[in-house]
Amino acid sequence: MNMRADPSGFRSAAARFLTGVTVVASRSRDGERVGMTANSFTSVSMKPPTVLVSLMRGRTWQAIMDCGCYSVNVMHAEDVASCVHFAGKPQGNAAALIEMDGFPVLPHAIARFACDVVRTIDVADHTLFIGEVRWCRHQDGSPLGFFSNQFRHGTGAAIAPTEIPYPPDEWAI
Ligand SMILES: Cc1cc2nc3c(=O)[nH]c(=O)nc-3n(C[C@H](O)[C@H](O)[C@H](O)COP(=O)(O)O)c2cc1C
Repeated sequence: MNMRADPSGFRSAAARFLTGVTVVASRSRDGERVGMTANSFTSVSMKPPTVLVSLMRGRTWQAIMDCGCYSVNVMHAEDVASCVHFAGKPQGNAAALIEMDGFPVLPHAIARFACDVVRTIDVADHTLFIGEVRWCRHQDGSPLGFFSNQFRHGTGAAIAPTEIPYPPDEWAI
């Protein structure tokens, strides 16, 4: 059977997967800090700490290719303006990328992962950037969510006390 999901149905189904929102940042060849909004972030492995992002070719893609490094900034619910800005629609009240321990990062992120690229995998019109985490930091704050093509409050309210059926120290997420 030779079947393939139609693109609009695929997009709608994929949009039913609730995610957080990140801004992936890097440094261009001429030293400029660049970034893009991305919700394809995934934690991949604990040993060593490894993550991935799936990105289309663009300014940030090129910068990561050139510099071999990137940061992932997990966005705060109050910082929608920065997410819109780094998705290609400039906003006057967006936060500016700053430097932290050698990596460009966003100031209000609730978590940051500073990564060196250890592998790239081209898949269709995207590239998976697999990054080994050099350092990471986190702080309290409400996460921003994304569902059905809209930004959402990602309050993270628990459904009920739940027993998680994985050994926590080997589980990367
Ligand atoms: C919520 C949200 C999530 C996004 N996630 C991704 C993603 O995971 N990968 C991607 O290539 N683009 C994603 N985009 C689109 C990019 O942010 C957008 O194309 C951006 O302008 C690319 O910037 P660049 O040209 O500097 O690379 C997302 C946009 C939004 C609003």
